[in-house]
Amino acid sequence: MPVAVVIGMQWGDEGKGKVIDLVSENAEVIARYSGGNNAGHTIIQNGEEFVLHLIPSGIFHKNKLCVIGNGVVVDPAALKEEMDMLEKAGIELEGNLVLSDRANIIMPYHCISDKGREGSGKFKKIGTTGRGIGPSYSDKISRVGIRACDFADESLLREKFLANYDEKKVLLKHLYNTEIADSEKLLDELLQYKDMILKFMGNTHSLMNEKIAENAKILCEGAQGTMLDIDHGTYPYVTSSNSISGGACTGLGIPPTKIDRVVGVIKAYTTRVGEGPFPSELKDDDGELLRKEGSEFGATTGRPRRCGWFDAMVAKYAIALSGVDSMILTKIDVLDVFDTIKVCTAYKYKGKVLTEIPAEAHILEQCQPVYTEFKGWKQVTAGIDRFDDLPDNTKKYIDALRDLLGVDFLMISTGPGRDQTLRMETLF
Ligand code: GDP
Ligand code: IMO
Ligand code: MG
Repeated sequence: MPVAVVIGMQWGDEGKGKVIDLVSENAEVIARYSGGNNAGHTIIQNGEEFVLHLIPSGIFHKNKLCVIGNGVVVDPAALKEEMDMLEKAGIELEGNLVLSDRANIIMPYHCISDKGREGSGKFKKIGTTGRGIGPSYSDKISRVGIRACDFADESLLREKFLANYDEKKVLLKHLYNTEIADSEKLLDELLQYKDMILKFMGNTHSLMNEKIAENAKILCEGAQGTMLDIDHGTYPYVTSSNSISGGACTGLGIPPTKIDRVVGVIKAYTTRVGEGPFPSELKDDDGELLRKEGSEFGATTGRPRRCGWFDAMVAKYAIALSGVDSMILTKIDVLDVFDTIKVCTAYKYKGKVLTEIPAEAHILEQCQPVYTEFKGWKQVTAGIDRFDDLPDNTKKYIDALRDLLGVDFLMISTGPGRDQTLRMETLF
């Protein structure tokens, strides 16, 4: 089964980083296909915590090819910072990392525009990461974006940059009363990254397809989660790319017929950062306890994550949209302290039971969760690595989720470390 896509099944932060780092052990290629440095994937390496925003989570293993695909938007300053951090930790990047020549570049004016719109009061606040994600994807779709390959021709880069600059300067001043730095200064700053970009740049579509032809084991690393998908998530409270499995095809240039498996990563409860509907959200002591026990604070922005019970409506939607054939359940240990654990199995809207997630955010906002209750186990599961060693009530909870969703678990994670994992089946 050489090509597997790993996606987030909720609103991001499901523990994809840990899982991908773990599974990368047996993979040859690990490739990011969407999002940018809005992502924060946490990995524990030799007891030290690392958060990756752009570089694939396989980089901690020696001699793995890590690919940043064309579907990713790349802030060169953020990439440089991450490279420096990894090199300081002794990680070899040269020969192990390739950036797509077709990846769009996040410019300083994208970040200003992102924050400007969020603070303008004209639109509903999304609670973005402020990393310029939306505006850079907007430029990509509007066909005015600057791409990695543009760095190969300085005069062309200059021309494209200045055309954008003139437009953005007027817009940002007019809309948000924000000045942007002098064009030559910004261009000089941009050109500081030229050598880095050219050194790591390559035709990743060809590379991926060569690896597929060689039958290499390939992991496509999803960022964000299903409910943040631009088309299928809780629009407009979403990110600006396709986080579902289909995004791997467009974001890496690989055909759908070459994808063998889709693995969904899902937390034993639910979290979301930023604004937007969240039917099973807990605004009470239980929510506070989930946040505390799960250390639910954003890996990118440090914001407290909103917490709630497991939502089977969301999980079923994610399974259907991405064709999830197996799941990895994470953070089961966080539920150790609860007397009662709930699972949302349906939504009620104006007294009616909904069987599908509504398209309108304002309707989803008013949906009431219908819960099934489970008895807690009140025992420590952290670090358990055999299913038989789990408390009976933990097994019952896991089995109930599997039965409800009709998809098996590949692994169950009982802690942030690599060895804190129950492995039911190996992916590769
Ligand atoms: P990602 O964006 O999906 O990669 O997830 P994040 O890294 O943003 O957030 C997941 C957090 O949970 C990180 O701090 C991980 O170290 C941690 N984590 C992952 N799996 C487990 C687990 O099974 N138990 C506990 N307690 N923490 C976990
Ligand atoms: P990982 O890969 C959780 C959320 C933001 C905001 C919305 C739009 O770590 O799971 P954006 O900056 O993308 O325009 O913000 O999307 N968001 C994430 N939430 N995990 C992520 O990534 C996220 N990436 C974006 O909080 O609500
Ligand atoms: Mg994260």
